[in-house]
Amino acid sequence: VMKAIIVGCGGIAQVHAKVLSFMPSVQLVGCADIRMERAQALAGQYGINAYTSLEEMLARESADVLHICTPHYLHVPMAVQGLQNHLHVFMEKPPAISAEQIKQLKEQLKLSCTQLGVCFQNRYNPSVQQVRHEIASGAMGKVLGARAFVTWKREEPYYTESGWRGTWETEGGGVLINQSIHTLDLLRYFLGEPDLVEGTVKNHHLKGIIQVEDTAEAYFRFGDIPVLFYATTAYCTDAPVLLEFACEKAVIRIENERVQYCYSDGRMEEKNLHFSSVSSGYGKDYWGNGHQACISDFYRCIESGEKAPISLEDASCTLKMMLGIYESSKQGKTVPLVDSLA
Ligand SMILES: NC(=O)c1ccc[n+]([C@@H]2O[C@H](COP(=O)([O-])OP(=O)(O)OC[C@H]3O[C@@H](n4cnc5c(N)ncnc54)[C@H](O)[C@@H]3O)[C@@H](O)[C@H]2O)c1
Repeated sequence: VMKAIIVGCGGIAQVHAKVLSFMPSVQLVGCADIRMERAQALAGQYGINAYTSLEEMLARESADVLHICTPHYLHVPMAVQGLQNHLHVFMEKPPAISAEQIKQLKEQLKLSCTQLGVCFQNRYNPSVQQVRHEIASGAMGKVLGARAFVTWKREEPYYTESGWRGTWETEGGGVLINQSIHTLDLLRYFLGEPDLVEGTVKNHHLKGIIQVEDTAEAYFRFGDIPVLFYATTAYCTDAPVLLEFACEKAVIRIENERVQYCYSDGRMEEKNLHFSSVSSGYGKDYWGNGHQACISDFYRCIESGEKAPISLEDASCTLKMMLGIYESSKQGKTVPLVDSLA
């Protein structure tokens, strides 16, 4: 049995704890939060020990895996601490908030014999898996272009009540690093490595309330494939994320579990691809229900000695796309992405 601990006992920690409680080969033994009442509440639910700091928890618990569910700016320093204590680390997105941080984490990982995995759980959505397979097999012909839209709603209290969202220092950005990094990750999960990006970030609806952007747009090139990206938290509701791949034989649209095929001969087809009932029900719909699939795949790899499925190397390519948009917006010009974080 592997022993797990969780740092950060807010919203997403609930999902991690619940998923772990369903895994027979894992025992959750402790959790930590600087807000003691949060650590105690989670600990009470699962009959585990509560701590007010990661340091204290690391000193008292002999664990195998550390789950990082804290604000963005703490992911790297806490992952480094976990690795230095010879733990495997499973970290929430984003993997870092800057190029310097990712470099620091890569250096620590080189010295460590434990593994690190990143939670980009939407990769496990059945709709994503199915379409990725269809495109990779060549069944749809070449990909000619792609577009992605994330149009969600986040209002003032979401930022002002969190204690860490809405500032460059602690969130590291807005809609791009937080909500839509999953969609950037999916674009490259389907299409491979991008060559360049030109993009902008803006704050349209929360001026004077947040320092960071509520809206981002970008034009990527993946080889000769143009990829258009738009994300905002200024909408009136959390609309399903739209991912569209225009292929030689069909235009394929993914919106959550719904996949629509518009074939070039005029035929239309629609599929609804859900997680099986055994694995559903852990997260909110718009997070996808992939946490269980993502977390159990990470543990499977640790147990079998395989490389972590979403490794730091892999996740840092997604980070490169994100940092590229911020950089392009700042400089007002196209930014090359090849080798930019090597
Ligand atoms: N994968 C997903 O779809 C998904 C969904 C939601 C959140 N997340 C990520 O999970 C992380 C947490 O998000 P959340 O919504 O749960 O935020 P949250 O604010 O609800 O929880 C964060 C918790 O960390 C605690 N914390 C802050 N500093 C700490 C420290 N030094 N030591 C210990 N605890 C500390 C806070 O007190 C808080 O309870 C973020 O990185 C977020 O991007 C991912």
